[in-house]
Amino acid sequence: MFAGPAACYNLRGPRGEPPGRLAARPPPTDPPVMSLRFVHVSDIHLLDLQGVRPWHYLNKRITGRINLALRRGHQHDGAIFEAAMARAAGLGVDRVVITGDLTNLSLPSEFAHARARLDAAGLAFTVIPGNHDAYVEEAVTGDLFGQHFRAYMDGERRDGAAFPFAQRHGDVVFIGVSTAVPTVAFDATGIVGHQQLERLAAMLSEFGAAGLCRVVLIHHPPVEGVSKPRHELVDLAEFAAVVARFGAELILHGHEHRRVQSFLPGPRADVPVSGIGSTTSRLSSPGREASLALYEASARGIHRELFVWNGNAFAPAPA
Ligand SMILES: [Fe+2]
Ligand SMILES: [Fe+2]
Repeated sequence: MFAGPAACYNLRGPRGEPPGRLAARPPPTDPPVMSLRFVHVSDIHLLDLQGVRPWHYLNKRITGRINLALRRGHQHDGAIFEAAMARAAGLGVDRVVITGDLTNLSLPSEFAHARARLDAAGLAFTVIPGNHDAYVEEAVTGDLFGQHFRAYMDGERRDGAAFPFAQRHGDVVFIGVSTAVPTVAFDATGIVGHQQLERLAAMLSEFGAAGLCRVVLIHHPPVEGVSKPRHELVDLAEFAAVVARFGAELILHGHEHRRVQSFLPGPRADVPVSGIGSTTSRLSSPGREASLALYEASARGIHRELFVWNGNAFAPAPA
C-alpha cells in the first residue's frame, strides 16, 4: 500500500523492498531526464442513448439496459468527467490515460458521444477498451472502439495486430493491452490471450533493454483475488508469468470502480499495480469516489499523487 500524500518508486530496485524516494537531483553526468506528466482515469461510462432503436436491444444489451435504468445510470455523472478534465488541464499534464469502459452498452451513439467528449477536452489521450466497450459481438466485429479511438491508440505494433500497442513519450512507453471480449449476460470477465501475451513479452523485453519506463495499461486487474468470480481476468496467471519474467515499471488498470493497490512479482523488483476508481462515480463510500491519479514518470522513477472527488472538486488525498 502507498503511504502519505504521495508515493514515489525508484525503478529497478531490489525485489521485495518497499519503494524508495527518488533522488532530489540527478548527478550532472547523467543523461537528461525526459519525464512524462499524465493522469490516469478510468471507467468513465459516458452515456448517450440518442438514436437507439429497439433492435439494438435484441442481445445482451437488454440486461445491460435494465441495469442502467435500475442502478448504473444513477452511479455515474458525465459532469464529473468535465471536472476531471479541467483538473487534469490545471495540473499541466502532457496526457490523459483512460483504462477502458468509456461506454456502457457499446452502442454506436455512445462511442461517438465519448469520442466527442474527449475531443472537446482539448487534451492528449491514450485509451484502451474495457469489457463495456466490447459489450456485444457486433461491436467487436464492427471494431467500433477502433473506429472511434484509433487516433488515441497510435503507436508501434507487432505482426500487424491491434494489441498491444506501444506509445513512446520520452523515457516512458505505454503498452496498451486489450482484455475486452464479448461475454454472455452477467459475465464481465476479460482475457488477454496467448498470442497477445507473446507480443507483450517481446515488447517488455525490448523496451526493458532500452531502459524505458514501461507502463502497462490493462482494463481488468491482473492480480489474483482483486476481482470477484465472473468479473475477473481469466488468464491473469499467464499475464503475471510474463511480468515475472520480463518485468515492468508500473501496471495501471480500472474495471473494479474502486481504488486498488497491489503488486506483481518482477524479475528484479515487485511491480506496482494501481487500479483507479470510476472517474465519473457519484458514490461517496471510501475508495469508490470518483478519482484520478497524477503521475510524473521517467526512466529514473515514478511519482504518484491521488485526487478524489469531494462533491465539488478533485481534492488531493492520501495516495
Ligand atoms: Fe466499468
Ligand atoms: Fe469493466
